[in-house]
Amino acid sequence: MAHSDDEVTNASNNPHMRDVIDARLARPSRRRWLQTGVGVASIPLLGGTAALLAGCGSSDDSTAVSPAAAPAPAPAPAPAPAPVATGPARPAALSFTAIPKNLSDTVTVPAGYTATTLFRLGDPLSAATTAYLNDGTDSAASFALRAGDHHDGMQYFGLGANNQYSANANTRGLLVMNHEAITPSFLHPAGATTTGSGVTQVRTVADEVLREFYAHGVSVVEVERAASGAWSYKQNSSFNRRVHTLTDMVISGPAAGAPMITKYSTNGTRTRGTVNNCANGYTPWNTYLTCEENWAGYFRRNSTTDNPNRSAKEITSFARYGVAGTGRELWATVTPDTTDNLYGRWNAEVLGASANDDYRNVPNTYGWVVEIDPFDPSSTPKKRTALGRFAHEGAWPARVVTGKPLVWYSGDDSRNEYIYKFVSTANWDPADATRGTAAGDKYLDSGKLYVAKFNADGTGQWLELAFGSGPLTALNTTYAYANQADVLINARLAADALGATKMDRPEWGAVDPVTGAVYMTMTNNNATLRTLASTDAANPRHYNDARTNGTAQRGNANGHIVRWRESNDEAAATTFQWDIYLFGARAGTDPANINLSGLVADNDFSSPDGLWFSPATNVCWIQTDDGAYTDVTNCMLLAALPGSVGDGGAAKTITNTDAAGATKQVQTFVGAQPGAKLKRFLVGPPQCEITGIAESPDGKSLFVNIQHPGEDTPVASIGNPTAYASHWPGGGTTRPRSATVVITRNDGGVIGV
Ligand code: FEO
Ligand code: CA
Ligand code: CA
Ligand code: CA
Repeated sequence: MAHSDDEVTNASNNPHMRDVIDARLARPSRRRWLQTGVGVASIPLLGGTAALLAGCGSSDDSTAVSPAAAPAPAPAPAPAPAPVATGPARPAALSFTAIPKNLSDTVTVPAGYTATTLFRLGDPLSAATTAYLNDGTDSAASFALRAGDHHDGMQYFGLGANNQYSANANTRGLLVMNHEAITPSFLHPAGATTTGSGVTQVRTVADEVLREFYAHGVSVVEVERAASGAWSYKQNSSFNRRVHTLTDMVISGPAAGAPMITKYSTNGTRTRGTVNNCANGYTPWNTYLTCEENWAGYFRRNSTTDNPNRSAKEITSFARYGVAGTGRELWATVTPDTTDNLYGRWNAEVLGASANDDYRNVPNTYGWVVEIDPFDPSSTPKKRTALGRFAHEGAWPARVVTGKPLVWYSGDDSRNEYIYKFVSTANWDPADATRGTAAGDKYLDSGKLYVAKFNADGTGQWLELAFGSGPLTALNTTYAYANQADVLINARLAADALGATKMDRPEWGAVDPVTGAVYMTMTNNNATLRTLASTDAANPRHYNDARTNGTAQRGNANGHIVRWRESNDEAAATTFQWDIYLFGARAGTDPANINLSGLVADNDFSSPDGLWFSPATNVCWIQTDDGAYTDVTNCMLLAALPGSVGDGGAAKTITNTDAAGATKQVQTFVGAQPGAKLKRFLVGPPQCEITGIAESPDGKSLFVNIQHPGEDTPVASIGNPTAYASHWPGGGTTRPRSATVVITRNDGGVIGV
């Protein structure tokens, strides 16, 4: 399957299956300018058509420009056993029977559980908004108060009788969720309406574009559980809110000001909207963090004509982030534009006399963590620049300790990108727990940003992105840093300079409430970007195995989950110890070099993406977004009971083999095999990804998002429902819809254990 949410930022010109479909159906392709040779001046081309098949997976098209690969690690000793932190015990076993892999057009859960659809694309969020027709004709304006598309990261905030946050509200809460992207085929009558082709292709129906503006972003929706046990969302709740690409936002923290100046905000303190909101996070003061992932591709910028108007630094920055192309959905092509540049502000070229007159700087205003107070529907979201600018997958908090700094972890979701952490300057004071975004001003606007370096011996370092330190000065010949704002806006370049470790595409992270260890999914990498030579201890696999989808499975096609433990269990530590908790694999593949975690029929999976620890049960939930192991199963949710860093013992040597038969040995640290402590809990409908997960505080209601079922249905088939790849959740001949499901146990018990 292929997804529209993974942006091409970079270096690779490997065709992606979505582009093949786009070309065939004349749908806007985000890579068109590359394909037509326009705008490539600032983008080095790597790889080749050999990667076509390897690159056709859903998770395969996000790749960034990075420096040369690190050398192979030297043989290394096993890490010393880590001390066991105090915390609530993890259950001894998972209580449900694993479900089989399947290709059914439904959500499958274990015997004794029920999954119910709760909140679907287009569902109305006010009493006055009509029921969704789901045929592409619902008005664009109505989408300002409808559920958006592509449900993603999600958080449950308990809502007490006093309409304030309540840690123990199990039957009433605010569900806050991201809407990462859209499936245009089903959002409109018959896909996006355009004329022209290549660089002259333009959108011709402004209302469709407006609908897309609203369909992205975030929903805040009140949900409640009746005495019968049934969950519903409250259509007329005063808390219901949509945040989208038109919502006014404050730019906060060190990077606000001059670099952010646009026609919209001539002092650089505001911007309009958020986009490609992938995963999420939260704060101890109960606000929601939504993260801007593949934002770069939404902007239109012809680098061939624009670069002559740009400084060398700007050109370097645009190239590193991939701001070049037609604009993913061609939003900037609508004419005539409105007086407030509703469409034109997606054009990032130099067009006016100064930055006050155009949107040349608008890409600087995206790529951030955005704080939203769901308890104050009139509050203005704030982009927190101290956490750095990249393809932010999410922002996951470390365990909160009174009197210590607060810490959030982030992955930069592109192939060969990095893992970051932010450490607040202020130490946590529980008195701030009720201060809303004012607390955010204290903890999220000042701190240290670090990037991770994984050493071959099982240790690691956090390297600080501090202006004036090491290579991050005006003397740097790749990019001359002017100040800390320049470092934060160009965090990828700064991390390159510091020598961070290029990872196999970081997706979600999560902190183990039992041990404090941090887990992060490396969803996968292809054979072109994780070459045999560039395998290292923390990204150790490059294999060539034919047993997938009838084509070769190469590189690290199935992904893995890295975990680490901070030194002395201090979240703010600058060193850590790591191992690899799990390797995705098809059961039955080579146990010595591919199926290193010993996966079997009950728990084999590929391309881990979502990751979350339940505070109620300490179960680790793993969600997949896969394109490599889809011949016998749709994407899935698994439950796990992990051990601790180092539980797999001594270093293990694996032998990698590339497509030409060349081999290379790598030493790595493999966690203990999970056995029955990893079980498949849910399988979604065709072509979906499972992403976004939250729970009622008592652990008895689990909310899970099903994103883009049936998304690869060709737009040419819209008139023929029998050709839809999915009809979930409506069944019959309906169009498929992204949706939230709520899972409960038929006996009313706690989920999973
Ligand atoms: Fe939007 Fe990183 O997946
Ligand atoms: Ca997605
Ligand atoms: Ca993914
Ligand atoms: Ca994701």
